[in-house]
This record gives sequence, structure tokens and C-alpha cells, in this order.
Amino acid sequence: MRKTFLTLIAILFSIACVKAEEGMWLPSLIHKNIEEMQAMGLEISAEDLYSEDGASIKDAIVRFGRGCTGAFISGQGLLITNHHCGYGQLQRHSSVENDYLTEGFWAANADEELHNKGLTITLLVRMEDVTQRVLEATEPGMDEERFQEAVAVVSREIADEAKENGLYETQVNPFYFGNEYYLFVYKVYRDVRLVGAPPSSIGKFGGDTDNWMWPRHTGDFMLFRVYADENNQPADYSPDNVPYQPEKFFPVSARTLEPHDFTMVYGFPGRTNRYLTSDAVQFIMEQENPMGIELRTDILQIYDQYMASSDKVRIQYASKHAGVANAWKRWIGENRGLKRLNAIEVKKSSEEAFQEWIQENPSQGQAYEDLLTEFQSTYMIYHPLRYSFRLYFEAGQNVEINRFARQFMKLVSVSQQKDVADDVLQAELEQVKDAARRFFKDYHAPLDQQVLATLTRHYIDLSQPGMLPPELAEVKKKYGADTERFARDIFSRSMFVSEEKIMKLLDNYRPSHHRRIERDPAYRFAAGLYNFTIAEVQAPMQKVQTKLDSLYRVYTAALRIMKPEENFFPDANSTLRIAYGRVEGSYPRNGIQFLPFTTSEGILEKAAQPDVVDYTISERLSTLLKNQVFGDYATGDDLRVNFIASNHTSGGNSGSPVLDGQGNFIGINFDRSWESTMSDIMFDPEQCRNISVSSQYILWVIHQYAGKEYLLDEMEVTGLE
Ligand code: ARG
Ligand code: GLU
Repeated sequence: MRKTFLTLIAILFSIACVKAEEGMWLPSLIHKNIEEMQAMGLEISAEDLYSEDGASIKDAIVRFGRGCTGAFISGQGLLITNHHCGYGQLQRHSSVENDYLTEGFWAANADEELHNKGLTITLLVRMEDVTQRVLEATEPGMDEERFQEAVAVVSREIADEAKENGLYETQVNPFYFGNEYYLFVYKVYRDVRLVGAPPSSIGKFGGDTDNWMWPRHTGDFMLFRVYADENNQPADYSPDNVPYQPEKFFPVSARTLEPHDFTMVYGFPGRTNRYLTSDAVQFIMEQENPMGIELRTDILQIYDQYMASSDKVRIQYASKHAGVANAWKRWIGENRGLKRLNAIEVKKSSEEAFQEWIQENPSQGQAYEDLLTEFQSTYMIYHPLRYSFRLYFEAGQNVEINRFARQFMKLVSVSQQKDVADDVLQAELEQVKDAARRFFKDYHAPLDQQVLATLTRHYIDLSQPGMLPPELAEVKKKYGADTERFARDIFSRSMFVSEEKIMKLLDNYRPSHHRRIERDPAYRFAAGLYNFTIAEVQAPMQKVQTKLDSLYRVYTAALRIMKPEENFFPDANSTLRIAYGRVEGSYPRNGIQFLPFTTSEGILEKAAQPDVVDYTISERLSTLLKNQVFGDYATGDDLRVNFIASNHTSGGNSGSPVLDGQGNFIGINFDRSWESTMSDIMFDPEQCRNISVSSQYILWVIHQYAGKEYLLDEMEVTGLE
């Protein structure tokens, strides 16, 4: 009975899986999906989306910084991404006197644009299937470590050849756990300036209260400009640089969308785990996520308390708070979604179906007979290691002083070398000084002391048997459960909590001073945790990970043999992808329907709740919306703000352009609904919705709210009546 039930779920689920909306597809292979896309409303061709000879839409899309996407919306290098993607930059330009976070920032002209040290944008020049060459460098039956070594060597070779004397950055990435390999050739631009940011009450409206939620009313966008040398090539920042002229940029649509309109999201999703086995899903649901949630609940409580009592701390910790809260809330949603989908049962039943297929197809299946049992025994070893590894990051690295002190390890080892060259030492000193300046600008020691006390207590309590780092064993012995006293001791004795003391050390630094660093209690604690984790946790974990990789490589290959009719998409891996779907609502919970659009009326509704600070809006916004000053961007009596659609997206898709069937820019992706967050592991076409800012709202903010018409002039706005 139970078995038939499970098989039924498996069948239903596999039917659900072939629904159009699931998947993040490689642009160079998009011709495989193009018929379906055109049936859904796409009016342009596969070559319009991706081409290596001549401009195509891919040339208008960039990786922004390390973890986001951005899109060109003018021929003069004007780039749009999310407010939350540029938030760190905006924060670094902000102070109590110049509070751009709260007030927003708009350059009146090119001279006022702000340079962002270290910020880069990355453009994909081309991608190439190099599977054959990579696999030729391996031998059948090679053990996994030698296999990966051989792959690494040939991948580096291929990547190096494609660099063309440093003109490009190149990388070979595995797909389907190493069943396929692609070479990616990128160009990286290094002069990227801030052009405009709406105030928090628009760009971050709803804040963490609304994060990962629908209905949403956030103008989550920011504008940058990319600069190049006089030949349109990458260059270090210089006042002589000129705006980069992209091969392609998006027309921005002012048209009103209809429900069921075709949409696609073109960007750089970070990581999905679509092929995990039931054991892995169970571990995430029952151990990894609960641990992260528990620890971050405590961190956020401490942050909230200190941020509420001082404006300075509020600004210092705004970005850190958003970062900690974001994953915390996602994990909660992911667990809820996986439970609702019966994810463990569904995985188990598809594993049973796999095993049945093996029995029924002995000739093809034989090779896989022991695969699932091997997964199980490997995960038994892997999971305690993985847990300890994650625990280090959550309980160790979320203490700022631990992160900061760890950055001095290199300086210590350089100083210990005999006859260290002066320039090597100086270079390292500069690095550390730089890190110190950045660190103390946004550091509030009393807050961090509280975080240290709380997280150290968790770290000790949650450590797996036999995996307690010696530093923590010592704390336990000396302080028992009183980690408050431990934290107080560290903070009263360490120089790492004081900018003055650290700068004094660094300004008069001589190699023999490494002993002073090593004697410091905060340094000893941080370096000890780090060393333990690297040697006792990460190294063995990686060995097992290697084994898992090889099992998954076999497993995904087998699944593709078992279901030859299915177009399996490769997990996201920070490479450029296309997802497509429609503007559509959903039924998230019994008795509740999500409509696809929100409007300015909803901003005013939320703003009428004075007790929610995340819903505070400026006088100006309130007046404009109340008086319905919507210019050319109205839909009836309303201004559309956000919309949801059924595109399969993930972290990294923030800032991705959302395009209509003609390739016009209709919005910018910035989130998923909370009911969707399990889609990294299991996608549900009924539930999974990405959230975007409507291009109408973006145009309205630039034009009516900020009055920056010069920006509209350089854009190509379409769909105005
Ligand atoms: N949830 C979105 C993403 O994963 C937005 C995060 C930034 N916003 C925030 N309120 N923390 O990145
Ligand atoms: N906000 C996410 C990001 O920063 C995108 C939302 C998602 O994870 O789908 O990439």
C-alpha cells in the first residue's frame, strides 16, 4: 500500500518536473528549449539570445561583483542592478553626515559619480563545450582523486590557452558533476561608478520584514556606470576613462504587463542542488538548517538590540544585519517548503523507482546496483564532518573579532620566515592595515563581545562528539557554561578590539613583533579554531566530498539514461543561465491567493502602520503617491510596483534583467516568495515564483521621484503611448 502510494507520488512528481518553468538553461544550448519558449510567447530567436558572432542579448548582461547580476540599459555603460547588490558600496560611501542609505544618492552628472574600489563587472565573451578534451585526459576506472587531478590539470591548460595574454579571464566548469565541461571566457571591467540609488524607503522598502515575501513593494534597484579606456577595454580607475559602450543594451519597457505574459530571467544563479539524495535532504532539513536558524536567531536579537539604541551602530551594522537575516529567513522557508512537498519521501520513492529500473533493465542497470547503498554509507561519514564545518562558519566566523584576527595569520607566517624580503613584508602589512581600517569603521565592540559569548556557548554545546576544537575544550574547562566571562576576558585583554592598539602595532611593525600577535588571546582563539577546522574537519570532509562527487557523476549519468526523454538541466554553478516562465500568481496556502501585481496603493497601506520601521517612507514619496503623480507610467489609477512570475531563479539572480518576448527590459529580479525557497533543492511549478521590480516603477522613481531626466534621455524607453 505504502509502496504504491510512494510510486504514485514519484510518477506525479516526475510529471510535474517536465513543466516548462523548472530549469536554468545554458544560453549556448537554448535552441533545445526555443520551440517551447516560442509557444509560450517568445518572439525572438535562439541567436538573438546567444551568439558568438555579432551582438546578442548576452552582451547586455554582467556578473556584478561576486554574487549578483546586472544589465546594461544604455549605450553609455549605464548599468542596473539591485539596491541590495550595491548596498555594501552605498554603505561605504555613507556616514552619519552623508547618510546615502536613508536619503539615497543621485549624481547630477558624470563628475559626481562615485568610484568603488575593488568592484568589478564580468562579461561573458563566449562559452565552449570542452567535455571531450577534458575526459580524454582521464582514464576509465581511475580512482576519484586521480580523476579530479587529471581534470584539474587539463582544465587549467584549456583555460590558460584561452586567456589570450591576459585579455580574458577564463574558467572551465564541470556540469552534471563532471559528465560535461564548459570553458567560459570573460572580460572583467574594473572601473565601476555609482550613479544613483533610491532612498532606503524605496530601495529597501519592507526591509527584513518583507524579505522573501509576497506581496512586496520594493524599488530594489541601483544604477552604476562602467568605464573603459579609450579603446573600450578594461582599465584601472582613472579620471581619463570613458563610459563603456556595450555591444548590446536593453530597451526599457514602460508597457503594462498582462497576467500570463511570457517572461525570462537572464543571469548568474549561484548554486542549486536538484539531484541530492534523500539522505542529503534529510540532513539539511533536520540538522544543517535548524543549526543555522538557531544561531542566527540569537545573533539577530543582539544586533537588533544594539542597533535600536544608536544611529551610529544602526548604520554600521545595516549591511551585516541584512546579510545575517537573509539566509536565516531563507532556511526557515526552505524547510517549510521541503516539508510541504514531502521532499524526503519523494526523494526516497524516486530512489526506489531507480532501483526498480535497475532490476528491470539488467543490461543497462547492472553498473548502478550498489550506487544508492554507497551514497548512504558515504553520507554517514560525510554529514558529521559537514556539520562541524558549517558550525565553524556559523558559530566561529560570525564573530567579527574572530574573522578579523584570522586575517593576521599571513602576517605572522611571513614574519616568521628567515630573512623575509622587505617588500613582501610591506605588502602584507599594507593589506592588513587596509583590512583594519575597513574593519574599525563599522565595528562596535560591545555588540561583538555579546555575539562572542553567545556563539561560543552554542559552539561548545553543538560540537559533535570528538570534534570539539581544543580552544573550546579549554574554554569549557576554565569557564564552564559562563561564556560571558570568557568573552569579557578576551575583550579586556586583546588588542584586536582597539583600533588604536592595532594601528600602533602595525605602524611600528618589525618581524619579531609576530610574537605579540601570537600571544594575543583573540588571535590564539581565532587561529586555533581555524587551524583545527582546516586540518581536522575540512581536509577529511573534502576527501569524502570527492567520493560523493564521483557517486553523483554516475548517478546523474544514470538518470539521463533512465529517462532519455527528459531535458535535465545542470545545477546552477554561477554561470550564465536563462530561465523562463510567465507572469502569474499562485495559491500559497489554503484560502489565500497571490495576485501577480502590487501597486503604489500597497506602499501607502503598509506605510500606515507606524509601528513597523521597515515601512517608513519619506514625505516626498508619500505625497507623490497620494496625489497619484504617476506621469507616463500609470496603469489605470495605479502605479505598478512589483510582480511575480514562474521563473526558476536562485541566489545570484539578484539584479538579473527580466525580459518580455521581444527582449525588452520589463523589470529586475530581486527575490523569491517565501513559499518558493525550497526550489534550490526541489522546484514546485505551482508555488515557485520569482519577484521583480516593475520597469514602470523604476522609470517612475528615476523620472518623477528623483528628477534625473538626463538618465532617461540616454535610455531607450519603449511602450510609451
Ligand atoms: N532575499 C533577497 C536575496 O536573497 C534579498 C536580500 C536583501 N534584502 C534584505 N532585506 N536582506 O538576496
Ligand atoms: N535575492 C537573491 C540574490 O541576492 C535572489 C533571490 C533568490 O535567491 O531567488 O541573488
